[in-house]
Amino acid sequence: MLNQKLDLLHPYPFERLAKLQAGIEPDSSHLPINLSIGEPRHPTPALLTEAMCANVAGLASYPATAGSAPLRDAIAAWIGRRYGVEVDPATEVLPVNGSREALFAFAQVVIDSAEGGHVVCPNPFYQIYEGAALLAGATPWYLPQKPEHGYRCDWSSVPGEVWASTRLVYLCTPGNPTGVVTTLDEWRALFELSDRHGFAIASDECYSEIYFDEAAPPLGALQAARALGRGFDRLVAFSSLSKRSNAPGLRSGFVAGDAALLGRFLRYRTYHGSAMSPVVQAASITAWADEAHVADNRRLYREKFDAVTPLLARVLEVSRPEAGFYLWARVPGGDDIQFGLDLLRQYNVRVLPGSLLAREWRGENPGAGFVRIALVDTPANCLEAAGRIQQFASGS
Ligand SMILES: Cc1ncc(COP(=O)(O)O)c(C=O)c1O
Repeated sequence: MLNQKLDLLHPYPFERLAKLQAGIEPDSSHLPINLSIGEPRHPTPALLTEAMCANVAGLASYPATAGSAPLRDAIAAWIGRRYGVEVDPATEVLPVNGSREALFAFAQVVIDSAEGGHVVCPNPFYQIYEGAALLAGATPWYLPQKPEHGYRCDWSSVPGEVWASTRLVYLCTPGNPTGVVTTLDEWRALFELSDRHGFAIASDECYSEIYFDEAAPPLGALQAARALGRGFDRLVAFSSLSKRSNAPGLRSGFVAGDAALLGRFLRYRTYHGSAMSPVVQAASITAWADEAHVADNRRLYREKFDAVTPLLARVLEVSRPEAGFYLWARVPGGDDIQFGLDLLRQYNVRVLPGSLLAREWRGENPGAGFVRIALVDTPANCLEAAGRIQQFASGS
């Protein structure tokens, strides 16, 4: 009667966290600070809100699923400036309503539910990859990101028979929660595997604009393909304004890459009814065209990481990530759940226990023993939280 596959979906990390935290009474002598959720909290730039207000007339018409030509042009131009890669705005770019829905829906394009197959994804991970695989009728293969391997995905650990039935690989670069950026050598190895086995690659790049060295932005999938002298065969990159432009409520991003896959995706999306509002399209054009607000945003994150990381490093095993806005810290004693609950009870600071961000699989949970700390709050609150974590972890 009902779709039984819905029962395969695991509770979302924050659902599990809320259950664990139920009944805890945080020490109210401390003001609450929440660094558990990866929601940007720097102000949304006025240029976006002004563009929305100036374009409300757009509400009078149905938008095309492919987006307007000016939006696709603006995205293609941004890709050109950011990655030095030329894409055809007519066939190699599609606007999406945030990268989350697109990462989820894309599995429907490459997985034939009658046939199933494998979807390879990192672990710990953004849980949408797993849900997309399960609802499409595929079986996830979880690639552990372990400290002893620098939290990198080891493609060579996937057995040949799994690759042979793999339809899709999700990867996240810069990674959530580890901040690791996929290197050109890693891309080369993955492209070779894709050429051999025919699977598609979904590169989740929603943290690509949060980095520390203005002269060295993280490598992107399309850029890697071009650097290796390839086209975009079986490759699609997912990008978003949510973190780049502090606009998670806008619901705006894009996918870019393999024209044949995007043609199929457009067909799927037309039926699914996921066109972007013309008002959001107008604001998105403005956002993709402006880099000043993005550089300001990065500066703010940089200042927070510079202030907070050395403090935390005195009591936790942690270092500044390559990119993104998370610290992935190993907790003393190794019990991340207890660490998170006790920190909340005693110091009113919320962080996300790493085991909730990873799947326990084949006897191990590669997120266990770690917490994710999102430096999304004001510099003062992040610093205050770091001071409290320091006190907590040193037992004073
Ligand atoms: C790894 C990762 N991918 C994708 C998303 C989705 O972002 P959005 O749908 O806002 O573009 C998030 C949001 O937190 C994320 O952490």
